[in-house]
Amino acid sequence: MAHSTLRSRLGCWLALMGMALWLTACRPLTIPMPTAAVPGTAPALAPGPVAGAAGLDDPLYPTLGNGGYDVLHYDIDLTVDVAGNTLNGATTISARATQALSAFNLDFSGLTIGQVTVNGAPARYRRQASELTITPVQPVQADSLLTVTVAYQGQPQPMRDPGVPFLPLGWQRFGDDIAVVSEPSGAMTWFPSNNHPLDKATFTMRLTVPKPYQAAANGVLSDTQDNGSSTTYVWQMTDPMATYLATVHIGRYEVITAAGPDGVVRRDYFPLGTPASVKASFAPIPQMMQFMRQRIGPYPFAAYGVALLPVPTGWALETQTLSTFGAGAGGAAWDEGEVMHELAHEWFGNSVSPATWQDVWLNEGFATYFQWLWQEQNEGSAAFNATVQEVYASMLAQDVGSPLPQQPPDLFTDATYQRGAWTLHALRLTVGDVVFFKILRAYYQRFAGSHASTADFIATAVEVSGQPAVETLLRDWLTNPKLPAPPAPSAQTPVIAL
Ligand code: ARG
Ligand code: ZN
Repeated sequence: MAHSTLRSRLGCWLALMGMALWLTACRPLTIPMPTAAVPGTAPALAPGPVAGAAGLDDPLYPTLGNGGYDVLHYDIDLTVDVAGNTLNGATTISARATQALSAFNLDFSGLTIGQVTVNGAPARYRRQASELTITPVQPVQADSLLTVTVAYQGQPQPMRDPGVPFLPLGWQRFGDDIAVVSEPSGAMTWFPSNNHPLDKATFTMRLTVPKPYQAAANGVLSDTQDNGSSTTYVWQMTDPMATYLATVHIGRYEVITAAGPDGVVRRDYFPLGTPASVKASFAPIPQMMQFMRQRIGPYPFAAYGVALLPVPTGWALETQTLSTFGAGAGGAAWDEGEVMHELAHEWFGNSVSPATWQDVWLNEGFATYFQWLWQEQNEGSAAFNATVQEVYASMLAQDVGSPLPQQPPDLFTDATYQRGAWTLHALRLTVGDVVFFKILRAYYQRFAGSHASTADFIATAVEVSGQPAVETLLRDWLTNPKLPAPPAPSAQTPVIAL
């Protein structure tokens, strides 16, 4: 019984939504390997200021993100009218220019801009779809620090993204509450940003909401100010975060706090009236954190918990340090595998972020495999083997293709989740448990707080295992339109004693 829920957490609701299965293009895919910088190619003279690029050439979302600067910190200061779902405030971006800039872009869609300043001086701006082009009075020097403030107000409009056809993205209402779910593109509905996981930054959010509402966001609640008829909640995310993981939840909550392992702050936000049976779904989180710690390393951030929406959903999202879950339908608990899945994303997806959206299996394949590993620890290897075999049979029956998406609708599919997880299982069968977990730990340690590509993972696996054949195996699992045969288990595959 546990298997079927584990097997197709996505398959189920995709099927429910009447989605067709996505067939992968039948040509072999290539994975670029990291290229070393070529010495001696720097120009003799520093180039004059030019406009920063309007995108980062992501293979799936070429216009997401912008070139020419690196964001260090977002300070998002918003006063929210909960009844009208409108906001009024400003986002201040601290960035470092990576080139001399005559102009640069932010990603921002909808809302009405009041003013834009660059280093304190009003700047000209132009908007075209979700590209906001800012022209400062003085060009920005290469390597200089840049402070950009955008003041804005209005009612955020959730957007449609072809990668997530079943859900509007961004700032939106869920029942009487307001919440943000953005993966992959929705952050631009509520704050201007460099909207791509390649450019992670720390965040401060100051959220002023009328009483009796509360506002939760990523990280640690550092201050609560009573303004009479409203309350200001100040949230600090002091580790780098990708824009798609930024979240806000506004509603009336029962807040349950506790001390977690290693000094991690535990806080869960449950809408008032959440049944005890639903809250109980999240009780195993401390043991799950311990499980991840033993296999990969300590939890990466200062806080962890969940924020529940007041309406049922078939999905959850790993919003950094504060995973978003729907209410349990009819008081039903969440599946333990889902709870494990979102927690595992804090290491794989949130701390180590995908370099491009084509690398999303590094999020979903890993989080899914940790679901299976949790089952292996708790129910034993027979139950685990039944799950992996069942998933394999179902992938075979559906002719599931490459886990590297070629277009946005391929992002959240059985290919990235299940074949992504099976890619890790195939690696484990080939190298054995000891080397497999060594590879995962090395990969995590190398890219924690930053981002990694598929080529980075393959290079780490080859280097740590010392087995060049691992590259062929991983490329087959990741790029072959046909599902590879499961590898024969290596001689040294006993489950490791931790
Ligand atoms: N990363 C999410 C997960 O835990 C994907 C859920 C789909 N929703 C979304 N907004 N992308 O599987
Ligand atoms: Zn996931």
